[in-house]
Amino acid sequence: MSFFTTPFILFLACVDAAPHALQVKRAVTPTVSGTPEVIGVASDVAWTRDSCTSTRVRNRVLWTCRDSQSSDAFLSSTASWTNFTSDGTPNVEDGVLTMYGTNPLSAAYFAVQNDECGGSAGACSDGTRYALWQNTRPLPVDTGSDESMSLYTWVANTHITADLSCLNPNPSTSLYRSDYSPNATVDELPAATLVNQAFWPVDSISYGNYGFVISDNTAYLYGLLNGSATVALAKVLLDSIEDKTAYSYYTASGWSTTAPSLTDTSAAIANAGTGGQGTFYYSSYFSSFIWIGAPYYGDNARFLIATAPSPEGPWTTPTEFYVGEQGTAALGAYSQQAHPGLSEDYGSGRDIYLTYTKVDAKFSTPLIHVVWE
Ligand SMILES: *[C@@H]1O[C@H](CO)[C@@H](O)[C@H](O)[C@H]1NC(C)=O
Ligand SMILES: *[C@@H]1O[C@H](CO)[C@@H](O)[C@H](O)[C@H]1NC(C)=O
Ligand SMILES: *[C@@H]1O[C@H](CO)[C@@H](O)[C@H](O)[C@H]1NC(C)=O
Repeated sequence: MSFFTTPFILFLACVDAAPHALQVKRAVTPTVSGTPEVIGVASDVAWTRDSCTSTRVRNRVLWTCRDSQSSDAFLSSTASWTNFTSDGTPNVEDGVLTMYGTNPLSAAYFAVQNDECGGSAGACSDGTRYALWQNTRPLPVDTGSDESMSLYTWVANTHITADLSCLNPNPSTSLYRSDYSPNATVDELPAATLVNQAFWPVDSISYGNYGFVISDNTAYLYGLLNGSATVALAKVLLDSIEDKTAYSYYTASGWSTTAPSLTDTSAAIANAGTGGQGTFYYSSYFSSFIWIGAPYYGDNARFLIATAPSPEGPWTTPTEFYVGEQGTAALGAYSQQAHPGLSEDYGSGRDIYLTYTKVDAKFSTPLIHVVWE
């Protein structure tokens, strides 16, 4: 892989919903029914790209992906739509879930700022790079009465060298908001604007960057403690995402309006993910909060699952339930994601779709369908 012309990930030094009825929530041990099926690839003919995530937006799904190469541009992020069929399943035809939509070519979807070497991909003149790569799907919030939505993404302002080592191990984290209007044309993607470039300042916990789950009108936001696989949790009402003063933070002492420090181990929630990339969601099929993701950052196509009766836990020990086909490249597989927005009833049905980035001669995004017992 050359440095600026093909997608790649950050996997060494740097780190990478839906409403539901009242139920007794619990921890469970989901079991796969039969063999998960690779039903195709999610692909946009215009782009070679990696590390895609997705969120349901009305009757379609909005995807965000990292480094994206086309014949005309190289962007550090792009977005896309996919459609459903009339029976509500992803519109896979001849093994392809077609991703579409018009990405502006001059700037990344999550625009790299001028003090981050700017341009479409954050390339600096000294050979380093600000790699603004999202780890997590956009967080959807209903706004207004006309089906408009705001979609929030926290992106770490990571600065890397050509060999992918991190120049700023705990960078600030930007908050971007994408504005979806039902009046937009079918190919128009909801533009992302920067709300705050240091929403989480340097050397603080990057809540929301490790994932989120929505419950009772509240966004529960996960972030990693310093340089570890240990996960911390904050919460905020859905209508106050942009208001830092509205947040509260979880530690062993309970919820507080004071944020713990990046190294405060009392903020750690055991087994709320592994530190590897993944997705949180709520499943009413299991009456349980779910995390699905990788065992660690790096080269593997393994999928683990953990469950909990509440976002705060206690979470079950993540256990492996599926291993995808490894790509043939040196870095052959990474960026595991679950896609509740593609699945029956936002992941509250009996199934879940998974993707990861598979690297052979080219990059692909296999789409896997898992049915639960
Ligand atoms: C997606 O659906 C829209 C209608 O909502 C249609 O115009 C468009 O052609 C579809 N695109 C694909 C790739 O299925
Ligand atoms: C969409 O169009 C309707 C009708 O013109 C208008 O009332 C509404 O404000 C528009 N919504 C947005 C988000 O622009
Ligand atoms: C994070 O951990 C690294 C390595 O252990 C250490 O050098 C650094 O000072 C820590 N950062 C903070 C903000 O504590």
